[in-house]
Amino acid sequence: MNPGHGIIGCGRVAPNHVDGFRSLGNWELLWACDRQQDLAAEFAARFGIDGVAGSASTVLADPRVTSVSIAVDHEQHAALATAALTAGKHVLLEKPLALCVPDAEALVALANNRGLVLSVVSQHRYDPLVREVRRWLHEGLLGELVYVQVTLEAQREPSYYTQSYWRGTWAGEGGSAVANQGYHCLDVTRFLCGELVVKAAVVGRSQLGRVIETEDTLSALLVAGETPVTLNVTVASSTTWRSRLEFVGSQGSVCFDLDHPGTLRRAEGNRELEDRAAAARCEIRSEPAPGIDYYGISHRAQIADFARAATGHGDLDEGPEVAVGMVSLLTDLYQASGARPVLGQHIDT
Ligand SMILES: NC(=O)c1ccc[n+]([C@@H]2O[C@H](COP(=O)([O-])OP(=O)(O)OC[C@H]3O[C@@H](n4cnc5c(N)ncnc54)[C@H](O)[C@@H]3O)[C@@H](O)[C@H]2O)c1
Repeated sequence: MNPGHGIIGCGRVAPNHVDGFRSLGNWELLWACDRQQDLAAEFAARFGIDGVAGSASTVLADPRVTSVSIAVDHEQHAALATAALTAGKHVLLEKPLALCVPDAEALVALANNRGLVLSVVSQHRYDPLVREVRRWLHEGLLGELVYVQVTLEAQREPSYYTQSYWRGTWAGEGGSAVANQGYHCLDVTRFLCGELVVKAAVVGRSQLGRVIETEDTLSALLVAGETPVTLNVTVASSTTWRSRLEFVGSQGSVCFDLDHPGTLRRAEGNRELEDRAAAARCEIRSEPAPGIDYYGISHRAQIADFARAATGHGDLDEGPEVAVGMVSLLTDLYQASGARPVLGQHIDT
């Protein structure tokens, strides 16, 4: 019997999960589940999925279900992932893993104790360009890193928040510009240059503050080892989406956009770096994205990694521990800014 999968939460990101599991070829998509059952039915009809459920418990009770995607608001990640792991299902959880470090650690421990795969979506770690830049950094093609500059300029209309039951609230989203949209550029920066330590952070709310209680902008100074890293993220720009990472080293500099398809803007400073960049520009082809274009195409690669691990063919390339690190870093950023109230645990430990 082929492995079976259920999707819990049929919102904006769910099509990327359908695409990823369909691309595997030998997995059955069994359930579309949303507590707004009309949405689940619409989604199931659109993607040719037989099972429609209004509650995760229906999906988790199905013995044909090997694994589930959880793609709901941030507040429910801990409780739903706990329920799924307790029911013996492998879990592909949208980011972030949880809203506080104790919940994040408890989920990783639960998955380990039960021998189940828990994978937290960090699709841009699987982008071919990101992996190529990581090789250049590890091979020393940039020399010593002098500084790193990370920016996300995005636009979110007030209606994006006012029409949502969870966005723009501390309890539901856990923070906005950086916890949600800025998550990936921060995650990729950690992937490329290691752990980040927060030195200072400031939030802004001047544009969307009348409709959200969270931040629309966050700027921070961090360090990776001794390398300064500046971070500027906003959802209050007039640009729909532009996520840019710039690594300046003593021997070479690289600048690229994380957006689909991952545009290499600049790689210069020495012949080898320039040759490798020219080759990467030829080799890395863009493909149409299955969902919203700036989510990219790499859910597919992460889902292939998940499926391999869930069927007992090796460990995840990117285990859930990296996602615990992200929960911790987000906590530090909000603490340094003084903006976020303390968020309670959802899992009793
Ligand atoms: N990796 C990425 O690039 C990416 C992109 C977008 C969103 N996300 C993440 O995906 C998650 C969902 O985001 P979204 O934008 O799709 O949200 P959304 O609000 O569009 O969709 C969430 C859906 O979950 C449903 N839901 C809520 N509680 C439920 C429950 N208990 N059982 C079943 N259904 C339930 C809601 O009715 C809603 O339809 C978030 O964690 C978000 O950060 C990731």
